[in-house]
Amino acid sequence: MGRHSYLEITLLLLVCLSIPICQSLNNGLALTPPMGWLSWQRFRCNTDCVNDPENCISEQLIKRQSDCLVSEGYRDHGYEYVTIDDCWSATERDKDGKLQPDPDRFPNGIKKLSDYVHSKGLKFGIYGDFGSKTCAGYPGSEYHMKLDAQTFADWEVDLLKFDGCNSDIKDAPKGYPAMTKYLNMTGRPILYSCEWPFYNWQHGIKSNFTAIRNTCNMWRNHWDIQDSWQSVTGVIQYFVKNDKQFRSFAGPGGWNDPDMLVIGNYGLSYDEERAQMAMWAILASPLIMSLDACNVRPRSKSILQNKNVIAVNQDKLGIQGSLKLVQESVYKLQIWTRPITPHGSYAIVILNLRKGGGPSAVNFTLTDLDIYNSDGYNLTETFDGKYLGIYKSNATFKCKVNPSGVYMITAVPVTYVDNKLRFVPRNESISSEKRQNDRI
Ligand code: GLA
Repeated sequence: MGRHSYLEITLLLLVCLSIPICQSLNNGLALTPPMGWLSWQRFRCNTDCVNDPENCISEQLIKRQSDCLVSEGYRDHGYEYVTIDDCWSATERDKDGKLQPDPDRFPNGIKKLSDYVHSKGLKFGIYGDFGSKTCAGYPGSEYHMKLDAQTFADWEVDLLKFDGCNSDIKDAPKGYPAMTKYLNMTGRPILYSCEWPFYNWQHGIKSNFTAIRNTCNMWRNHWDIQDSWQSVTGVIQYFVKNDKQFRSFAGPGGWNDPDMLVIGNYGLSYDEERAQMAMWAILASPLIMSLDACNVRPRSKSILQNKNVIAVNQDKLGIQGSLKLVQESVYKLQIWTRPITPHGSYAIVILNLRKGGGPSAVNFTLTDLDIYNSDGYNLTETFDGKYLGIYKSNATFKCKVNPSGVYMITAVPVTYVDNKLRFVPRNESISSEKRQNDRI
């Protein structure tokens, strides 16, 4: 794919748009992996606002997190969707059968909250379930999907995370697309995040990814992520196992979702946090944080706000990276690559899965990774933007990678003169003079 021209990629996109097999949910959303914040991993189903007012699922929490997403700079780095997960609703529907929020925790209603989030220049997301109840036991959308889609649209919701607890898995091929239809009928573009493949997997059912991509803008494949390195690597290994299949369905409009970034919480070391960020970037995964945005260690915040790594994640080609090389036995060292812009460039992540010892010395050539041109590449360390030099495809590249850590590189063909342009945030225009100064 990396050797395809822009023309070929454009043609491929045009073909995708015109034949049903690779058509995505036609709402024009998620052209790059969605970025935002979700309450679940950090705040779970904490409804105890008496004893834990700061952390319970409430309008105060969502407002405070929205404030901090702005004041701490996350919004300006692209994290835009603020989504309340499970446990926002009352235990019963209202007299007209509509979903309603818990009156004590959301005294002003969801529309007011959505207005608040929008006033901050952010987008607002909510959670539902196509079964009879949500995973935490709140009212599900079974027999109410059309009404619920309209209620969400009336509340000016921008994203719906739709779960599958308490449902019959045999209903999923009808249930998830039914919600797509009802969301479309509201006329409001609502990004649709679903868990269909995960529930299939749980029940030993092979997923029809063509149907899933036609239905959802992002889809969870695996168990819930937890705040631990074991959990993060478990998700990565699941993606390794299904690499080819998952990859072939990801692209602008629809993405595999390995679940939230757990960076900024309690379970990951500094190296492990860098590793999750780099892997989610190479996998073209949604970047959905779940943390207390008002209280993040500076080192974690700088990882989450690393423009170079975000640029790889958000690369407009939207090609999910793949595992190219495994060194040492039992997947200890993995080298992943992802074609990115400008044409012919790659992001490379060396992931060290060793649990102990010191940094591992790694040697490889770009040719080993199927990255080849006759003139060579400008290599840059991605996190720090440190220029590493020009490497011909058959030259040996050496680096050291910390245990449970990553080394991330971007390789841009030397023939591409404006090789630093990729790192300029979207919409920011720069003078040619500054561009020259930024060049190495
Ligand atoms: C499931 C989902 C989680 C979260 C919880 C809420 O477990 O996979 O992401 O939404 O339900 O109850």
